[in-house]
Amino acid sequence: MTKYITKKSGKYWPSKEMKKIAWVNDDKIYKQADKNPVKFWEKLAKEGLVWKKQWDKAYVEKLPYFQWFKGGKLNFCVNCLDRHLGKDKTALIWIPEPVKEKPVKLSYGELHEKVCKFANVLKKLGVKKKDVVAIYLPMIPETLITMLACTRIGAIHSVVFSAFSSDALKARIQDGKAKVLITSEGYYRRGKKELLLKKAKKAVTGTSVKKIIVVSRFGKKVSGTKYLDFQKELEKADSYCKPEIINSEDTMFILYTSGTTGKPKGIVHDTGGYATQAYWTAKWNFNLHENDIMWCTADVGWITGHTYAFYGPLLNGATTLIFEGSPDFPNPGRWWDIIDKNKVTVFYTAPTAIRMFMKFGDRWVKKYKFSSLKILGTVGEPIDEDAWDWYFKKIGKSRCPIIDTWWQTETGGTLINALPGIGPFIPTVAGKCFPGTKHIVVDKNGKKVKTGKTGNLVQCSPFAPGMLHGVYKNHKKYIETYWKRFKKYYDTSDGAYIDKQNQIRITGRTDDVMKVAGHRLATAELENAINESKIVSESAVVPVPHKIKGEVPIAFIVLKKHNPSEALEKQLKKQVDKSIGPTARPSKIYFVKQLPKTRSGKIMRRILKALLVGEEPKGLMTLVNPKSVEEIKEIISKK
Ligand code: WT7
Repeated sequence: MTKYITKKSGKYWPSKEMKKIAWVNDDKIYKQADKNPVKFWEKLAKEGLVWKKQWDKAYVEKLPYFQWFKGGKLNFCVNCLDRHLGKDKTALIWIPEPVKEKPVKLSYGELHEKVCKFANVLKKLGVKKKDVVAIYLPMIPETLITMLACTRIGAIHSVVFSAFSSDALKARIQDGKAKVLITSEGYYRRGKKELLLKKAKKAVTGTSVKKIIVVSRFGKKVSGTKYLDFQKELEKADSYCKPEIINSEDTMFILYTSGTTGKPKGIVHDTGGYATQAYWTAKWNFNLHENDIMWCTADVGWITGHTYAFYGPLLNGATTLIFEGSPDFPNPGRWWDIIDKNKVTVFYTAPTAIRMFMKFGDRWVKKYKFSSLKILGTVGEPIDEDAWDWYFKKIGKSRCPIIDTWWQTETGGTLINALPGIGPFIPTVAGKCFPGTKHIVVDKNGKKVKTGKTGNLVQCSPFAPGMLHGVYKNHKKYIETYWKRFKKYYDTSDGAYIDKQNQIRITGRTDDVMKVAGHRLATAELENAINESKIVSESAVVPVPHKIKGEVPIAFIVLKKHNPSEALEKQLKKQVDKSIGPTARPSKIYFVKQLPKTRSGKIMRRILKALLVGEEPKGLMTLVNPKSVEEIKEIISKK
């Protein structure tokens, strides 16, 4: 079996075989790109995409905004589909959760036809260029079809994670003012039917949504004038839709993510810049060729799903595999079975999933050969050495490189990682900046720190083509979140250090944002959800380390007048489910009499965290109510 890596002076590097098949295998690329990053990206944009019109200016910067390929015109959908027609290739493999249900394969031609048809459905409903279309769908082929259909006509898609609650969906619909919502009856999760339409119906009341198109997953069809059946509408539509010509700098999609303040922000991504970064990062990080089958396990509700489960592989003319269900259903061998049966060559997942499988035990992976695999990837949070090792040995059979990719919803595509043909692949180290991009580590005053010192990770100009182009209709938030602290640098809100070899190690968020099973959650968002309950006076949420999920939220709650009880704890957890979704549910709730606060009224979450992890809390002198600390200590010790 081909070995794609080799060990040299204690580190893993690409083997000769990997070098041979890799798109890039010479580290001179970094220096070349560095000489003139704009020129470098310009060349990549020309080479990687089909344009209707070349740009007038490759990069225009007027901070805090910047634009790529200004004046350029293209259609994203054409780049994903039309140019791969006639090759008779599979674009999508969909694996439904029920084992008995047959996988669905769509060729580029079939997908193209469905996308064209659905684009015509949207047009018939009056959807125009720059209109926002809300998509509340699970991992099914229709999700890809509707998203691509939006890009074909220049509508802006706003995908909302299917596990989010009705309230969360409503807030996102209201922010984008979508007139059309696409959803599904539901989907299968752990053998059960999860109902989506029910939640969607509740969410749209009192919003701008006029039409709801429903995918019939369980066989029941909707009817009427407000609710339309996806399949029925598709059948009536013409099978070709002329692609709209889109400006490179026009918005292609928005995707909401948590920030430090309570409300999620609509991250705005453009068309040409995003497409360029999605194409080249997918190609170089995962060494994608047309015969590759890539499986990125992320849900489309997150940016990873957008860029690497859907768009990256399609832009490259490869095959993407998506799976509807839960990783351990009907048993913890399901994922591995899918890899072997479908000959997946590139597998991309999150450390939290790896840790879960480690816990299930090796017997679930032993049965599988994994002989089709070439490259493994991880994303979402720092990967610890144990998880890296397990992934490397048990899944990669010590033959495949692990590409640990650092990036964010805001960056559109990956930015820091090793390239498979260049290496090295070092556990817990993300790697170098993608060619043509630059990150440095600065102190709190924005001064570059010494090599090897930990500080704030920031991105330097020229900003990568896939970077956000603002927060949807919220200029103030855009500035405050990304440009206030370091002015000329983009603030990632991550900590990191860079070693002498320019290898970057990410140390985690520097703000009040946590990563729960790879999902990004702000403490403020959770506190807002809890405070919505009439019985709550105030609350504080802090993350604590968790063996599998990385971090979990713990809530400290002061009740107005009720006495603490298990029933109330349940009620408040439900409140979080309702406001955000079960992914955000606090793993524990402590009812306390008061929260530790400074004289100016700031809640000291740092002190709560110290108490939870059994450290001696520091800075008690600054508190107005130091007694609260003793009280809370006791409550924690009792529970
Ligand atoms: C945050 C962004 C875009 C990927 C999915 C998450 C953390 C992401 C890594 C990594 C260490 C990582 C950072 C980042 N993160 N990848 N390889 N190593 N940390 O996107 O939900 O917008 O979260 O995830 O803290 O800021 P996201």
